[in-house]
Amino acid sequence: MTIAVLPGSFDPVTLGHVDIAARAATLFEHVIVAVAHNSAKTPLLDVDTRLALASGALAHLSNVSVEATSGLLVEFCRERGAGVIVKGLRGGADYDYERPMALMNRSLTGIETVFITGDTALAHVASSLVRDIARHGGDIAPYVPDDVVAAVHKAVRAAG
Ligand code: PNS
Repeated sequence: MTIAVLPGSFDPVTLGHVDIAARAATLFEHVIVAVAHNSAKTPLLDVDTRLALASGALAHLSNVSVEATSGLLVEFCRERGAGVIVKGLRGGADYDYERPMALMNRSLTGIETVFITGDTALAHVASSLVRDIARHGGDIAPYVPDDVVAAVHKAVRAAG
């Protein structure tokens, strides 16, 4: 059985992530969405919230599960028996960002990264832009699953 790991910060999960997870779910027998907890980053949403929102957004995909991870990604993949890392690409900038990580992960353990191109209608959707729109009082509803809207606005208010 080919298990794939789809890692990311998911701060917050977007419709772009849902699109990539759905495409990955058709290619692999099981997909583990790994919500990364990185102590060097200060996310808008805490890891439990990111995990809950991603779980809700992907609940309709029966062969997709969602877990938090905090260590080396390749170690998480080894522990879960995953043979593939899967990432979504919106364009060339994503490839430039992802390529060194794909090469490093392969150098570390031999694990391959498979890139999936997402829906072109979502090519402008990014968690960083969603956070910025929310911080400036804009409407994020077109870009994220329904449950994410209130959670992001709540986190923005709490952050002051
Ligand atoms: O959504 P992001 O922030 O672009 O995701 C980056 C992520 C979480 C995939 C990357 O930082 C990662 O893999 N972190 C886990 C720690 C690790 O393995 N670092 C070495 C990567 S070569």
